[in-house]
Amino acid sequence: MTPPQFTNGNSLSILGTDRRNDLLDRAWLAQYNESVLRDIPHELRKPAFTETKTLFLLRPRFRERVDYALMDIKVQVPDRQFQLIFCRNLVFTYLEQQQQERLLKVLVNRLCMGGFLIIGENETMPRYIEPLIPRSKTGCIFQKRALDSQ
Ligand SMILES: C[S@@+](CC[C@H](N)C(=O)[O-])C[C@H]1O[C@@H](n2cnc3c(N)ncnc32)[C@H](O)[C@@H]1O
Repeated sequence: MTPPQFTNGNSLSILGTDRRNDLLDRAWLAQYNESVLRDIPHELRKPAFTETKTLFLLRPRFRERVDYALMDIKVQVPDRQFQLIFCRNLVFTYLEQQQQERLLKVLVNRLCMGGFLIIGENETMPRYIEPLIPRSKTGCIFQKRALDSQ
């Protein structure tokens, strides 16, 4: 399988979407309490966050690579290709089967060849979709088949 062509760190860009402005405002602040970072190893925290008494503040050099957009996923998804899409704990948990199937196709369309789709650990795909190859035992990581791969 051909690995996805990840851009180098200098051109990394991340887009977060939600339908609620207040949550996007909070995301913009990029301030987290310790419990939110519980899965981030300590050796990765230091380079990425400045620590205050109560909060971890994401360092500017990481913040400047992140954008946010107000979007209702039922109506609109970002109009560009992604190497990695996190779609956790929304579409495959709360939406109806038909919407899930429709949005799965849309998300796969937005993935580059060899790119990854990550869903929630407790979620399942509505049904197997051909270009996606399961890549984890937990069933939440999928890779879009590259044209030249098995
Ligand atoms: C359970 S949270 C999951 C958040 C995150 N993906 C995670 O796994 O931690 C669901 C999020 O989806 C947002 N949401 C709900 N319906 C939405 C929609 N139709 N379009 C976009 N975002 C939506 C909610 O505002 C909330 O922030």
